[in-house]
Amino acid sequence: MAQTIAVLSQKGGTGKTTTVRTLTDILRRCEVRTLAVDLDPQGNLSDYFDLPTDVQPTVAEVLSGRAKASEAIHEDIIPANLSLAEAELMLGGKMGREMTLKRALAKAGEDYEVILIDCPPSLGLLTINALVAADQALITAEAQYFALQGVEQAMEVVELARESLNPELSLLGVLLNLADMRTVHSREALVSLQERFGEAVFETAIRASIAYAESAERATSILDHRPDLGADYIAVAGELMGRLPGLSDARKRLARLSQSSTT
Ligand SMILES: Nc1ncnc2c1ncn2[C@@H]1O[C@H](COP(=O)(O)OP(=O)(O)OP(=O)(O)O)[C@@H](O)[C@H]1O
Ligand SMILES: [Mg+2]
Repeated sequence: MAQTIAVLSQKGGTGKTTTVRTLTDILRRCEVRTLAVDLDPQGNLSDYFDLPTDVQPTVAEVLSGRAKASEAIHEDIIPANLSLAEAELMLGGKMGREMTLKRALAKAGEDYEVILIDCPPSLGLLTINALVAADQALITAEAQYFALQGVEQAMEVVELARESLNPELSLLGVLLNLADMRTVHSREALVSLQERFGEAVFETAIRASIAYAESAERATSILDHRPDLGADYIAVAGELMGRLPGLSDARKRLARLSQSSTT
């Protein structure tokens, strides 16, 4: 049974999609069977993976009961597009609306070791569905003054999901993104997160670089586009594998991947 990780933040542009995209790449390169789920009507993750825009069925059909999750998997990705906004509205009126994704993924999840879910930038019904389907929550934050506030809000929703719907949910960690450690700004954001959330904060912060936008535009992994920057995510993947059970073989492969990216 797969370990499912929901990547969330209330705020837009904190690097959720880039994180899901890049961690999926790294896990796959470490031979971990990984499913990526796009749960954002913006469909950015599907674009980042360069899936055709008209690919069908998508997660919208899965949530509205018109397709099985297994039918919506294309190249180990369940894509999304704008029709997910409508599906979310429809879902709002249904019994068990928070459990829909969990139920849908139960069977499909048997074929994978890890499922990564890319949430939209809001803490609404889609994110709740991700948190109910998940074993772990990964919160992303942008390295700026209001980072702490944003993470606290996301944390409250994680708590809420745990108390009311998913007692098994745990916090995988908080990842600081778009950091420029030469600035006081970024350093302060990291320190305030560490003071507040301690070891939950990943030691590695993802450095800011325009290369991420370039690699997204070309639908090329940052690992290939700029291996020197990809090293940040390889380090995060190492921390993540240390926090998840059962990935010790993958850690050995990661060490090799890390060596080959620096040579
Ligand atoms: N480390 C980084 N440095 C600079 N730019 C980055 C970095 N990571 C991501 N970006 C860019 O910032 C933008 C937002 O990133 P991304 O789409 O991953 O965030 P998001 O949290 O998923 O956004 P949304 O909330 O809209 O879904 C994209 O253009 C992306 O290419
Ligand atoms: Mg996104």
